Amino acid sequence: MLKVINVVGARPNFMKVAPIVAAMKRREQEFTPLVVHTGQHYDSTMSDAFFRDLELPQPDVYLGVGSASHAAQTAAVMERFEPIIIKEKPDWVIVVGDVNSTLACALVCTKLGVKVAHVEAGLRSRDRTMPEEINRLLTDQIADLLFTPSEDADRNLLLEGIPPERIRLVGNVMIDSLLKYLPLANKSTIKEREGLADKDYAVLTLHRPSNVDDAETFIRILEALDEIGERLPVVFPVHPRTTKTIAQLGLAERVEKTKGLRLIEPLGYLDFLSLYSSARLVLTDSGGIQEETSVLGVPCLTLRENTERPITVTTGTNKIVGTDPTKIIAAAFDALNERERQPVSIPLWDGHTADRILAAFGAVTMSDTL
Ligand code: UD1
Repeated sequence: MLKVINVVGARPNFMKVAPIVAAMKRREQEFTPLVVHTGQHYDSTMSDAFFRDLELPQPDVYLGVGSASHAAQTAAVMERFEPIIIKEKPDWVIVVGDVNSTLACALVCTKLGVKVAHVEAGLRSRDRTMPEEINRLLTDQIADLLFTPSEDADRNLLLEGIPPERIRLVGNVMIDSLLKYLPLANKSTIKEREGLADKDYAVLTLHRPSNVDDAETFIRILEALDEIGERLPVVFPVHPRTTKTIAQLGLAERVEKTKGLRLIEPLGYLDFLSLYSSARLVLTDSGGIQEETSVLGVPCLTLRENTERPITVTTGTNKIVGTDPTKIIAAAFDALNERERQPVSIPLWDGHTADRILAAFGAVTMSDTL
């Protein structure tokens, strides 16, 4: 029997941990899963809604760290997580993704000699100004077991000197959630509620500091939206960090007068899946959305200069367009002029990644090679 602590902290963690915890509950003779929520995200729309939609059990432990600077937030997670590990003595801790909580919890475990596994390991944007890139690099260096979503991730890890026996190519666990919940999401009434049923529309998400903390960049994106919004409405569920910076940068009026742009509250998992799965076009600076749109065949424009998920460009529907309005507009109109949708098949992004992760734990425990 393996006692495993599953860490969640921020919005993009919930859809990765839910299938792993569900798989462990199906195999309760072999696994005792606990869920620790660091509280990095705490608004009901950023956290509670996801527990509900993804049928995640309520956290066994809630650390309540909240928002702070990177150093303060990372330190607060470490301080509050350490006594939990000392008390619970888990066999393994699973961290997912690349948020501050991921690195903070991995570091606590390594220092205490507790085995830690990183799910979504090996992704690299090669842009060290992104906080997430630092979290990825460091977590992968110290984790005992690295679960990768695609071969490019394996190659990155090997190039960084990670021994191959620590790496397991298992596929994309977030797609387990997507495939499981798509039928339920299709029953969401979000499109009716927003008056979008049977209409063409685009979806926008924006929260990266490089885009929303800098007025010039933000305005360049709004200039592109002015033109795209002439052609079809652009629905924009606004991340709380972005709401805050719009106010701080004095951009509320500029945002307000951007044609076709419709600001709405952040959505839960099912409503958001329903919304973007029927969109003609998605514009985003999120990582996960590049993957989700690829699997569904929805055209995606990434408003960044790079991606840590290159397979979504080579195999999927993703285009990296940066923040130059001319490039964004040209790519948007190209995408809108294509009527055909092409869902994409990426090896091992098949809804069974959580099972492969559990199988790998079983094998590692039996052979005790790590
Ligand atoms: C974090 C992750 C990022 C991920 C994103 C998804 C890091 C370094 N960043 O960014 O990788 O893509 O989550 O959402 O871990 N806030 C609220 N309520 C909340 C959460 C946040 O109001 O529930 C506001 C606060 O003003 C806070 C700000 O958002 O200061 C930023 O939150 P934080 O957790 O530091 O980073 P995110 O930008 O959300």
